[in-house]
Amino acid sequence: MENLTKSSIESNIYMQGNNESNVNGYAKSFPAIFKYSKNDILKDYNDKVYIDFFSGAGVLNYGHNNVHMKHELIKFLDSDSPVHCLDMDTVMKLKFLEEFDKVILKPRDMNYKIQFTGPTGTNAVEAAIKLARKVTKRSKIVSFTNSFHGMTATSLALSASQEIKHNDIPSQDVIFLPYDGYMGAEIDTMDYISMMLKTKGSGNQLPAAIILETIQAEGGIKVASIEWLVKLTNFAKENGILLIVDDIQVGCGRSGDFFSFERAGISPDIILLSKSISGFGLPLALLLLKPELDIWKSGEHNGTFRANNLSLCTATKALDYWRDDVLIKDIKIKSDLIQNKLKECLDSCSHIVDVRGYGMIWGIEFTSCELAEMVSTILFEKGIIIETCGNTGQVVKILTPLTITMENLAIGLNKILDVVSKIDDSFSDINLN
Ligand SMILES: Cc1ncc(COP(=O)(O)O)c(C=O)c1O
Repeated sequence: MENLTKSSIESNIYMQGNNESNVNGYAKSFPAIFKYSKNDILKDYNDKVYIDFFSGAGVLNYGHNNVHMKHELIKFLDSDSPVHCLDMDTVMKLKFLEEFDKVILKPRDMNYKIQFTGPTGTNAVEAAIKLARKVTKRSKIVSFTNSFHGMTATSLALSASQEIKHNDIPSQDVIFLPYDGYMGAEIDTMDYISMMLKTKGSGNQLPAAIILETIQAEGGIKVASIEWLVKLTNFAKENGILLIVDDIQVGCGRSGDFFSFERAGISPDIILLSKSISGFGLPLALLLLKPELDIWKSGEHNGTFRANNLSLCTATKALDYWRDDVLIKDIKIKSDLIQNKLKECLDSCSHIVDVRGYGMIWGIEFTSCELAEMVSTILFEKGIIIETCGNTGQVVKILTPLTITMENLAIGLNKILDVVSKIDDSFSDINLN
């Protein structure tokens, strides 16, 4: 990076001299070249400072270059411990398995086996669906309106957004049903779900599994109620349908507990973790399965980059955050601050439809995607990295590292309030002066 001149960098990003495919998305949303990152801060090559309200799409719950994990990683590399061994036993892998059980599962009275899948979230989704079909000998899978589960064939078929699908993507035996709140606050979609899956004339076969995010992230920050989650879990259990919770984005503390479903006291059959599970931005994905579901034959599901030892090194260190309740209490305080400031945003801008969220994932829904996009762009110019989500991109999504300082959280939130309160009444522009 040092020997790139400012103008060569500029021509790369601004004059399309870059040979990267058009498919690149985030470089277009956030047009800067980043050279430094620490906890909640990034700097670009001009030394412009940005506060991170994006967290690498949920990968950086413990911040950028987390100092504890970085030191552990340097020690690990210095020791010439094996980095890549597929899923062979290594000291690091065994240590992670032991500590995850001790720090996360046992205190929650959770009895699960752990499967290492390929290193991205979508790999865990694919494995879960394959396993559910194998266990139940059924093929249909229920997914929900506004869901997002990844970009490989099955995950894409399970995702609701039409924008990311092509017409020729096979439907993969997916039945889409309404998420909590989708049919309006007055209607309990569980009645509809039960009817569509159980009545003889519905045209649907009983599915192998129901996959859901307990808080839909990409779908626009939709929080399922505890009552709905409990009813859904009971329904699945009564009908021999496996319940898969995709905690890839909202697990690892994002909701205020380690798992997003803890608030509902439910016990999913399969749990998927990725993104922040390695703690440091290194790729790792896990599938937690109830022991009786572990009917895999050895090697029946595999992948080259499973259980990468660098990822396991930082993942093990990240567990330190869960040995006491300091982080949990901190999230609660920050969550309250975000909620209060978003209420002020709602009161100060008639073009905001709703503000909602849970723990440290929040959304501001605008009357149009153009407006949400404009707010994100202006905030980026003002040094806040923040993205949009929702079925049309109409929601500005607040996803800071859990470890953001109170000071930077307040600065970022005040900038958001400042921008939204200046939205012109014609909502064609934002009067920044
Ligand atoms: C809930 C959820 N599931 C699955 C995925 C896919 O993860 P990956 O992009 O690592 O394949 C994502 C990614 O945003 C996600 O938010």
